[in-house]
Amino acid sequence: MADMETQVAIVGAGPAGLVLSHLLHTRGIDSVVLEARSREHVESRVRAGVLEQASTDLLVSTGVGERLLAEGAVHRGVNLQFDGERNRIDFAELADGRTITVYGQQEVVRDLIAARLASGGTVLFEVDDALPRDVSGPRPTVSFRHGGTDHELACDVVAGCDGFHGVCRSVIPGHLLRAFEREYPFGWLGVLVAVAPSTDELIYAFHERGFALHSLRSPEISRLYIQVDPADDIANWPDERIWEELQVRLAAPGWTLEEGPILEKGITAMRSYVCEPMQHGNLFLAGDAAHIVPPTGAKGMNLAIADVIVLAGALASWFERSEREGLDGYSETCLRRVWRVQDFSNTMTELLHVLPGGDPFAQRVQRARQRYVASSVAMRRTIAENYVGLPIS
Ligand code: FAD
Ligand code: DHB
Repeated sequence: MADMETQVAIVGAGPAGLVLSHLLHTRGIDSVVLEARSREHVESRVRAGVLEQASTDLLVSTGVGERLLAEGAVHRGVNLQFDGERNRIDFAELADGRTITVYGQQEVVRDLIAARLASGGTVLFEVDDALPRDVSGPRPTVSFRHGGTDHELACDVVAGCDGFHGVCRSVIPGHLLRAFEREYPFGWLGVLVAVAPSTDELIYAFHERGFALHSLRSPEISRLYIQVDPADDIANWPDERIWEELQVRLAAPGWTLEEGPILEKGITAMRSYVCEPMQHGNLFLAGDAAHIVPPTGAKGMNLAIADVIVLAGALASWFERSEREGLDGYSETCLRRVWRVQDFSNTMTELLHVLPGGDPFAQRVQRARQRYVASSVAMRRTIAENYVGLPIS
């Protein structure tokens, strides 16, 4: 027997789950968020850092952008570097003045949790064994354990926002799902460093030793990445070795990379994944639960936010006017953007990473693409409009 009730049961308190809960609240729709990890854990997990214009606009226009506006850094361009030569992608010139904002994902998560709790929302942390049930019928439930007690949450709709390794996707019968997947033969070793960034704008660098990225977090904190073998062990990477690679790969004439204490480091494998459809009955998947992109386009968090903008609109039509069209078309609407972003993320990844195996044909094509970025306004415009993000339908 259900001992709790809500309109939308949301599994996962990452960007997808929290933005959805927040947007539903602004429309007067009740939700409960169930999160497996502790509040401290989700608020300190270092992940993405780039917000598209549309993501920033949404957070600001719905009242959770105060700290983002004060502490986030607006960037009007990004640099693509090939063998020491920097090519600036100027958003003012190429993307109608739209911009990106550099603001850590955990800060977005922190702001949203604070906003949900301040307006009386329910976000339960350290929930075990969450499992959606009866999602093909009109009255699903989610069973879970919290604080040593078993619970059952009755709802109208379940939103599976529980990331790539979550449980919700597995609730959809396998024969109704089609998965598209590509594993890349490289990973990113990311470091958070206590040093002022050596650049005002991001630098994505291709070098024969491998890709490197200089990103930022704040005037005192830098975020940097290098391409490594995805199976490599972080124990093989003492700080001196990381700096050596960063210095070589990011080097450009007349520019110095400042070093500082490494606060945190880790290796993440890269993959593309899409599951179709992103819905089944009254279960709707959003964010990494439904798709993964390689990080080179800085799209993961933005795509998660785009999904739940669509889902919140569709749920509002359903709860307010009993119109089901938006919900029925949810997956199709989202997948159009998902595949656009897969294409962009894949293109950026293959443009900028050293391709293991050394296929000479692929290397020549890659070199031709890099030269095209350097020489063609049309190519830079294509990168710019995708990087700042296409409008959300
Ligand atoms: P998540 O942020 O993964 O949130 C899902 C939430 O669900 C988590 O809090 C999880 O604890 C919870 N959960 C999982 N299972 C359950 C369950 N059974 N019950 C209850 N709760 C559950 N993108 C970039 O653009 N650049 C980057 O550098 C970058 N780095 C990344 C590094 C890592 C290690 C990872 C995993 C992702 C990274 N991403 C990056 C991708 C980006 O962070 C994600 O796309 C984004 O977090 C998606 O948001 P989400 O809410 O869909 O999923
Ligand atoms: C960051 C992460 C990315 O994946 C990216 O493409 C750019 C920046 C970051 O963590 O700052």
